[in-house]
Amino acid sequence: MTIIAGTSPGSREFAESLAKVLGMETVHARYKVFPDGESYVRIEKDGLDSAIIVQTMSKPQNSALVEAMFLADAAKGLGARRIVLIAPYMAYARQDKRFLHGEPVSIAVVLRALYYSGYRELYTVEIHKEEALSAFPGKAVSVYPYEYMIEKIGINGDYVLLAPDVGALRRVERLAKKIGAQYDYLIKKRDRVTGEIIVEPKHLKVKEKKVVIVDDIISTGGTVSKATKLLLDQGAVKVYVMVAHALLAGNALERLEKAGVSKVYATNSLPPKDAGLVEYIDIAPLLAEEISKELGKDF
Ligand code: R5P
Repeated sequence: MTIIAGTSPGSREFAESLAKVLGMETVHARYKVFPDGESYVRIEKDGLDSAIIVQTMSKPQNSALVEAMFLADAAKGLGARRIVLIAPYMAYARQDKRFLHGEPVSIAVVLRALYYSGYRELYTVEIHKEEALSAFPGKAVSVYPYEYMIEKIGINGDYVLLAPDVGALRRVERLAKKIGAQYDYLIKKRDRVTGEIIVEPKHLKVKEKKVVIVDDIISTGGTVSKATKLLLDQGAVKVYVMVAHALLAGNALERLEKAGVSKVYATNSLPPKDAGLVEYIDIAPLLAEEISKELGKDF
């Protein structure tokens, strides 16, 4: 079994970390972009029995996805019979239904494309809604990172956990019960056309409390900024944020700082953006644990 470090930003570092835990050899996939914009990949290895390809779907997501498909075919061409994809961040996961008439279910298309390019097993971290994985015809696992993260960070029952929207409530409830913390949630509405976020006003019991907002993704930072302002206005002493994926698009970091967020904790599913406000937690050991359960099994 060989680990192939993929081509997208953040994949090499993740692959190295995973290889260290699993005690496996890593081969760095080579890639280039042709002058016309097309992607080229190559795995320089004489032959492959089975391959774990690490390709996170970081920006530019479309290239990351296409290159992941090419890497599966490259591995197949080298003789690999078992090809596993580790995509710590899975792009398009939030488009998991037709919110507006005429839209695609993007994540289902992505998962099918990965399967038909050669992957039969897929591991990712917190795929927004686990049900989306049913579109992948092979074995698909979404690793839940939060318990591992709170242990590393040292979050305990002294904190209040907050779900910034109803979608995040299930994960926050599970986590709060685990550590004996209080929890609450907000009701957020997003305009599906403009992307504008409205957080409904609500009284929260956070006076003189340290609060951790728990969500799967920070993208524009709109959700977390609005929640943070509300929390600080209601007397919270500190607001921390714990997310699986720190996309931090555009001026998200600035927005978070301005809103008064004290610290963001995120996994290394995406390449690091800021060493000040964001602290990255290496999640590779948790994925390694999950994969190890399967490695001995026949495929
Ligand atoms: C939404 O359903 C997700 O769980 C996140 O709350 C959302 O994607 C965050 O996006 P943004 O940072 O742009 O508000």
